[in-house]
Amino acid sequence: MALNYETLRRAFRARFAAEPRLFRAPGRVNLIGEHTDYNDGFVLPVAIDREIVVAMAPRPGSLVRAYALDFDEEAHWPVDEEVEEPGGHWSNYLRGVLTVLRRRGLSPQGFDLLLAGDVPIGGGLSSSAALEVAVTVAVATTFEFDLPPTELAQACREAEHLATGVLCGIMDQFVATLGRAGQALFLDCRDLSYDFVPLPLEEARLVIANTNKPRALVDSEYNARRLTCEAGVAFFQKQRPEVRALRDVTAEEVESLRRELPEVVYRRCAHVVHENQRVLDSVAALRAGDLARFGELMNASHESLRDWYEVSCAELDALVEIAWGIEGVYGSRMTGAGFGGCTVTLAQAEAVPELERRIRAEYPARTGLQADVYVCTAADGVTGLDAGGRR
Ligand code: GLA
Repeated sequence: MALNYETLRRAFRARFAAEPRLFRAPGRVNLIGEHTDYNDGFVLPVAIDREIVVAMAPRPGSLVRAYALDFDEEAHWPVDEEVEEPGGHWSNYLRGVLTVLRRRGLSPQGFDLLLAGDVPIGGGLSSSAALEVAVTVAVATTFEFDLPPTELAQACREAEHLATGVLCGIMDQFVATLGRAGQALFLDCRDLSYDFVPLPLEEARLVIANTNKPRALVDSEYNARRLTCEAGVAFFQKQRPEVRALRDVTAEEVESLRRELPEVVYRRCAHVVHENQRVLDSVAALRAGDLARFGELMNASHESLRDWYEVSCAELDALVEIAWGIEGVYGSRMTGAGFGGCTVTLAQAEAVPELERRIRAEYPARTGLQADVYVCTAADGVTGLDAGGRR
């Protein structure tokens, strides 16, 4: 479902009587490396062909007028007004972006903005990161701010913290900024060095299945996982003062000290340490064209998130188990924070119709919900769109 950029331009002109510039940023699906980003670890996300589009034009004075096409709702506020209550209104993402720009000495004036998108909202594909990144690039371009991509991603993560109160890592904003068509992005979340890994999308398909489970728990449980990881770091630091994050802890250490750790801290640390290794192994497997091995790593990641990190749920497990039972599926796992959201499956192209059929037949019976299935491709990170609507 591609968005029609010309329609968005017309809607902007009709509402604000000005000529906008358009910017788009993609949603993401993470192939592997879950709950590792805030532990200074490794991740392997893909920017997908679903996006948030922002149309913007400056206006005299200091008022922001923002219209969310999909909610048919307009909001107005002075450009320097802060987020009032995290987690509330959609305009908080914009306020958060404006605040973090000001913190960097960049003070935009008033503007009109229209936003629309086809990333499912709150569906675990990082619609919010796409929104933050698209708005930040729109503002930076409109007011001629110089913001290098890595800095931009960090500013957007900060904006997410302000807007939602969820202390997320850097993965989503980074891939929405720097993702590349046809490739997965292999990111070291400690020093933000990155590389691209070609996706085998001639022979295989990336299939996203959305649980459509109403979002609950995820915010508080997410922050709770972070705190437990910090407790783990404090423990290992006592053994070895150079430990700064779970990234620095080895699997051997975690196992040898298991009895001295509270059980729940042990479980969380075990997941993170092994998951980091799985990302490194996945990059090697994909580069070697070994999709069977990569699929095994995806499956192991899901089991670890389910059993050790305890962020899966019945709906995610159902989708993953359905996929695991189909011939031609390499691997399947939950993706993103968990407690709902989506799964990602790598499958042979011929297996996709059967996967969709089985999800339609079995998922509602197991959960009482309907799932959505999208076959996706890997898109570029944020871009401006020229007047013809092309990139
Ligand atoms: C959410 C966060 C990311 C990351 C994932 C889990 O998507 O925004 O920073 O922590 O959860 O891997």
